[in-house]
This record gives sequence, structure tokens and C-alpha cells, in this order.
Amino acid sequence: MPLLAVRPQCRQSTGSAAGLSEGAGGLEQRLAVGEGVSTVPAGLRGEGAGVISPIVELALRVVLLTMADPPAAPLEITPSPGPPPGIGMGTWAWGNRFLWGYDPAQDGLLERTFRRAVELGLGFVDTADSYGTGRWTGRSEALLGRFCAGLPADLQARVQVATKLAPFPWRLGRGGLRRAFQASRRRLEGHLQRVQLHWSTARYAPWQEDPLLDGLADLVQAGEVAELGVSNMGPRRLRQVQARLAERGVRLTSLQVQLSLLSPEPILPGGLAAPGGLAALCRELGIDLIAYSPLALGLLGRPDGDGEPRPRGPRGALFARLEPQLGPLRRCMAAIAEPHGAPLAAVALNWCRAHGALPIVGLRTPAQAEQAAGALAWQLRAEQRHQLDALALDLNRRMPANPFQSS
Ligand SMILES: NC(=O)c1ccc[n+]([C@@H]2O[C@H](COP(=O)([O-])OP(=O)(O)OC[C@H]3O[C@@H](n4cnc5c(N)ncnc54)[C@H](OP(=O)(O)O)[C@@H]3O)[C@@H](O)[C@H]2O)c1
Repeated sequence: MPLLAVRPQCRQSTGSAAGLSEGAGGLEQRLAVGEGVSTVPAGLRGEGAGVISPIVELALRVVLLTMADPPAAPLEITPSPGPPPGIGMGTWAWGNRFLWGYDPAQDGLLERTFRRAVELGLGFVDTADSYGTGRWTGRSEALLGRFCAGLPADLQARVQVATKLAPFPWRLGRGGLRRAFQASRRRLEGHLQRVQLHWSTARYAPWQEDPLLDGLADLVQAGEVAELGVSNMGPRRLRQVQARLAERGVRLTSLQVQLSLLSPEPILPGGLAAPGGLAALCRELGIDLIAYSPLALGLLGRPDGDGEPRPRGPRGALFARLEPQLGPLRRCMAAIAEPHGAPLAAVALNWCRAHGALPIVGLRTPAQAEQAAGALAWQLRAEQRHQLDALALDLNRRMPANPFQSS
């Protein structure tokens, strides 16, 4: 069970120094951190392209169903200096029937959502070649490519697309992601600025990762894509990968990890490789930190007792497990949001930004795009961030860790 030395009250924002005395500066917390799920999906030990979808779905089931309570460990939070990053959008839901109930009839709404988001400054868009379930595999990229092509030139110039290529077991060697890259670029109709390795293979196939990253660096050096990023990588591997790429003159642009008030691990100390935490390590190495699932799949955007039914399926099951403990956190978020006339989601996004991370929020309606963009107009004060930190770290249950996240 987590142990917390200081439990600050969340106060209504008054602009005075009222909250500062207990929040800012000396909030030395004794905290617990989740170790993460150590399971590697059994499907990854299978072979052949025919198992792509079962692997992805099985991984997802593992993620959603093996939810370990965090063990106790004393930790401190490292503050983030500098101005906060912006906000981007995620497209996991586009084409995903299994978790997100996608239907092609939603495509018009998704296009309006995308356009509204770009108009409002959320032009950094994340996708992946594995997004889309069953016959909709690749749909997220294909929709994004079509939507980009439909934008007028001035809006197109504001879009920056980052896709993730999956290191499936049969994608091997330096050229192992080349065909996948070309297929993604085709689906995206050429709108592709960054490739990211979707997850680290360090925990189950360590020999696979370096050649694949070398191949992605080849693409950057050949001018086929501008930037290179990684995802679901821990501090030890991050240091190695960044150094290896730097040796050949390729910048590692970004690291994308799960980060939210319900998955705060990246802002906590990360062992010998990152005593100041993964976020601090990114700052040290000049790598942009991207926060995925910043709303915990939408849970952090739901006000207390709003009467809205939970989503059906595994997402609803996850909400049911995590929601009962959220009262104090939600009340604090509401108090922070209220003076800005903002929704809870904006507080969750600005908490990521306050820790130096660019949140990529999953969007499915223009209203959600407007609410996310509204968060750009204001920032958390230091004591508000500390209050939220303390409440987040006091939670018994967190989002499940990604099973592929390396050390
Ligand atoms: N690298 C990786 O392994 C990895 C893993 C997961 C995700 N990602 C990326 O990160 C992106 C974002 O994460 P995510 O989609 O998992 O989850 P998320 O951003 O935490 O939650 C997205 C969901 O929150 C709800 N929502 C959005 N705006 C809201 C608002 N203003 N108020 C209330 N609810 C709101 C929507 O659900 P409803 O539409 O149902 O209301 C939306 O689909 C993904 O799309 C994907 O691009 C990457």
C-alpha cells in the first residue's frame, strides 16, 4: 500500500499564497510506485504474420486485466523547469472496434474532430501501423492520411504526424521495418514526419532492437523521414539507445510512455539509470517526453457522480476497478478547473505539461478537441501540481503498466 507523509488539502484557486505553505518547495513525499506488469504475452512466442491481431489483442487483454497494486517504496518527485509543452492528439480509437467500438459510420465525425483539433493548435498527431482491429488494421493511418490530404494547405502545414512501427517477432534485422515504413507512408499519403519504435523488445528479444533502430536511423539519414522516436522504453535502455544513435549523428527526438495522474511512474525516480526519474532523464538527454493515455482512457475526464454510464467492455471494467478511489483526486481537479471554467480533462492534461511532457489525448469529437485546446490557455501553479502529485501517488490502484516497457 502506498505511504504518504504529506496529504495536502486541495484548495480553491484564489491567486493568493494560501496553498503555497503546504504545497510548494518542501513537499518531501514518501511514496509507492507500481513495478509494472512483467508478463510478456504468450502470443509473442508464436510465429508468423497470421498472429498479428491475436498478439495485439492479447497484449491489450494482459494490459487491462493484470492490474497490480503498487508495492511500497519511498520516493521523491523531481520538479520540471521551463515552459510546458503543447498538446497533441492520439488516434488509437480510429479503427479499433475491440476496445473503442469503432464503426466506419464514425469517419465523418472523426474528420471533423481532426480538423477542429488542427485549427485549434493540436497539430501533433500520433498513430501506429498496428492500430485498427481485425479487418480495420491500418485504419488509423489510412484515415489520418485521408484527413490530412483533405485539409487546406495552411492547416496541412500545422500537422506533424508521428507513427509507431511495431517490432513484431518476424520483423528482423536492419531492414526489418523498411516495408512497414513504406506501407505506413503510403497509408498516410506521405504525411509522415516521425517514426517511432512502438515498444522495446529488450525484455524478451534483446537482440532484435538495435538492428531495427539502426534501420530506422538509416531512414532518417537517407532523408526519408525527418525524425526518430521510441516508445515504452525505460531509462537504462533509453540511455543506451540515445548514445548509440548520437554516435552516428542521429538525434533521438522523443520518448513516448504512459503518463497520467493514474500512471505517474515516469516522474518518479527510476533507479540507477535515472535517479531523478524518466522525465528528468529526457530533459538531461534533450529528448522530448510524450505522455500517452493522459486521461487514463477517458477516466480522468469523468466528473464525480455525473451519472454517465461507464463504457462497455474492457474499458468499462477498468473504470469500475479504478473509479471508487478517485473522489479526493476529482474534487481537487474540480477545484483547480473551476476558476478557468475548464473540464477535469484539462487539469489532467495540464498536469502532464507541468511535468514537462506533451500529452497526446485520444479525440473522437470536436467538443473533446475544443476542451483539450482550452487547456493551452492556462497552466497549473506549482502548489496545484504538488497537490495533484500527492493525491495521485496516494492512490492504491493505478493504470496497468505496458507489458513491453523496458527497464
Ligand atoms: N505508445 C503506446 O504504446 C501507446 C499506448 C496507448 C496509447 N497511445 C497513444 O496515446 C493516445 C491517447 O491515449 P488513449 O487514447 O489511450 O487515452 P486517453 O487520451 O487517456 O483517453 C482518450 C479518451 O478520453 C475521452 N476524452 C477525450 N477528451 C475528453 C474530454 N475533454 N473530457 C472527457 N473525456 C474525454 C475520450 O473517450 P470517449 O470518446 O469514449 O468519451 C477519448 O477517446 C492514443 O490515441 C495513442 O495515439 C500510445
